[in-house]
Amino acid sequence: MKSYNIAVIKGDGIGSEIIAEAIKVLDAVASVEGFALHYDDLLMGGIAYDITGDPLPQETINRAKNSDAVLFGAIGGEKWDTLERSKRPESGLLRFRKELGVFANLRPAVVYDELINASSLKPQIIKGVDIMVVRELIGGIYFGEPRGREGDRAYNTMVYTVAEIERIAHKAFKIAMQRDKRVCSIDKANVLDVSQLWRDTVDEISKEYPEVTLTHMYVDNAAMQLIRNPKQFDVMLTGNIFGDILSDEASMLSGSIGLLPSASIGSKIGVYEPIHGSAPDIAGQGIANPIATISSASMMLRYALGQTSAADRIDSAIAQTLKDGYRTQDLAEFDAKEICSTSEIGSIIANYTVKKS
Ligand code: IPM
Ligand code: MG
Repeated sequence: MKSYNIAVIKGDGIGSEIIAEAIKVLDAVASVEGFALHYDDLLMGGIAYDITGDPLPQETINRAKNSDAVLFGAIGGEKWDTLERSKRPESGLLRFRKELGVFANLRPAVVYDELINASSLKPQIIKGVDIMVVRELIGGIYFGEPRGREGDRAYNTMVYTVAEIERIAHKAFKIAMQRDKRVCSIDKANVLDVSQLWRDTVDEISKEYPEVTLTHMYVDNAAMQLIRNPKQFDVMLTGNIFGDILSDEASMLSGSIGLLPSASIGSKIGVYEPIHGSAPDIAGQGIANPIATISSASMMLRYALGQTSAADRIDSAIAQTLKDGYRTQDLAEFDAKEICSTSEIGSIIANYTVKKS
């Protein structure tokens, strides 16, 4: 039997609750599809700081690098917000992404028909939306030097090299080839030199993908267009900070940030995580929506382990669960037949994955 070693990082806040449901679903689907998953629990985030004094212990990096894939919950919380920056959970996450070299962050924003009323936008605007945000994840202003704070000044630097732009552009075009063959590259080239380099480089790379239609858009306009007419987008290619902002915005097209998964990939080990945060305000209450994490687990099966039919099972099980009216509290107002706890909805999805013939 094929067996895989999954590094699991629960992290903080609702992390352990949502990961528990993803594992429940993974185990169900593995048993019916005939493969085995072994989980290696690793420390990271605020909890890692509390226990070891470091939000990203070296052991976590080593063991993650030795896994087949990383399944990630969420990190952070107010409790750690006053620590010096290098000790904060978020710094651990950024270092982790850099260590693993996961330069491409794929954030699909898909609107489930069953939840068409859950969005704050009109149904006709969002019906059929299917966007893939391709966000550069280990460069840009998040990592640029120099950075610092001196007296009454503080600064960060937005840096991209041609090589960094090329590799993320290739990813975006390759993904577009599997989809509707449209890439919209988003920048601020009317103001920023780094964005002009971005635009020129993406233009250059696009020549290798003649079937893909490339357009460019300024980030402020893109933020507006996403709300005005989101169906115009197929693949949105963008840098680190613009992608951070636009992917949160895109997630709300679907009605809840609790639904959207992500995959961060590079050359080797990928990290699969929901796009939402650790939601300390609802932690421990059993009301978090685990669907984004379960859906991230499905991306992990598909992209990291090549278990396509297992991933298909999970995706249909999620759709079926929503169709049958099972909702966590964040979606309670939208055609709910039954309001479920985090663990109830996990069990329903797990059962549906097994039932599909
Ligand atoms: C995300 C998050 C992170 C980011 C934070 C927690 C550092 O917002 O994954 O989108 O900004 O990348
Ligand atoms: Mg974010």
